[in-house]
Amino acid sequence: MTPAESSPAARALDEAVRLLQNGDLVAFPTETVYGLGAAARDPLAVRRIFAAKGRPADHPLIVHLPDATALDAWGVTEGTAAVALADRFWPGPLTLVLRRRPGVPDEVTGGLDTVGLRVPAHPVAQALLRAFGDGIAAPSANRFGRVSPTLARHVREELGPDVFVLDGGPCAVGVESTIVDLSGPTPTLLRPGGLPVEALEAILGPLPPGGTRAPGTLPGHYSPRTSLLLSSDADAAAARLVGKGLRVEILRGTDEADHARRLYAELRRMDELGVDVLVAELAEERGLGRAINDRLRRAAWPHTDEAPLVDGHDPSER
Ligand code: TXA
Ligand code: MG
Repeated sequence: MTPAESSPAARALDEAVRLLQNGDLVAFPTETVYGLGAAARDPLAVRRIFAAKGRPADHPLIVHLPDATALDAWGVTEGTAAVALADRFWPGPLTLVLRRRPGVPDEVTGGLDTVGLRVPAHPVAQALLRAFGDGIAAPSANRFGRVSPTLARHVREELGPDVFVLDGGPCAVGVESTIVDLSGPTPTLLRPGGLPVEALEAILGPLPPGGTRAPGTLPGHYSPRTSLLLSSDADAAAARLVGKGLRVEILRGTDEADHARRLYAELRRMDELGVDVLVAELAEERGLGRAINDRLRRAAWPHTDEAPLVDGHDPSER
């Protein structure tokens, strides 16, 4: 097809590939959240990601791959369950941390001797990766410390109008990928996410939490103006706060998948609406519920030394 015949989506994809080849950044949808991508083999391009996000440069990035055949070019799979997990769960919301191959830039790994790898399932991400033909390093496309974007509009709100965004609509999963570390003697869980931990444990056996430093595992990963109250009885908590004259909303999902999909967009919307307190119901601590609760607890953590807001603490006194 000539450019004149091609669709707007095809032209946007061509432009995105050109930008990546040029060392520039492209925001793109994945099934979990939107990512801010750069050519993973181009150290200068990768540095631009940290500048755009305001993120410390020693935090490692996930390399997104077109398919599992690219795995061995980036990480050491021998002696690990990487190929079995990739066969079973890719494309999908799973990141594998492996010992890295020589030639993976330090800018990507934050100087670690390991690298995080994932094949995303979103059709736009897949089309981009196939057209580009190599790894794309991408963190979530938010400014450092904020919640991840699940709509193209969120990316522009976070990073400004100049960032090139491929619009793939709302993200279907809504929370980031599950990260499993296969670089040590036994597999560990670095982050619960879009792939239920139980599915991994069915193959790997019990997955203890890993000790690797990771920014997504710091408390306080969201800085809303709206206070977030975690409650097991949201209606009662909300009634109590409304009685004090506060503007209150409740966040709960009809099921875990729905809860996860709406979580970050709802946190953003509460700030826009000027809500004083969002009362969120914790999910059951299994499946996607583990990722939902993990993100809720981080978002409820105040950026002071106070205890997180949970039932019993009164946000009007904060
Ligand atoms: O779903 C996702 O994973 C999204 C989409 C865009 O793919 N990406 C994402 O990236 O959440 P980011 O940078 O926001 O979070 C990646 C997490 C960080 O906590 C980082 O520390 C960890 O992955 N990570 C990456 N490489 C690592 C490594 N070699 N060792 C340990 N942790 C690593
Ligand atoms: Mg992130």
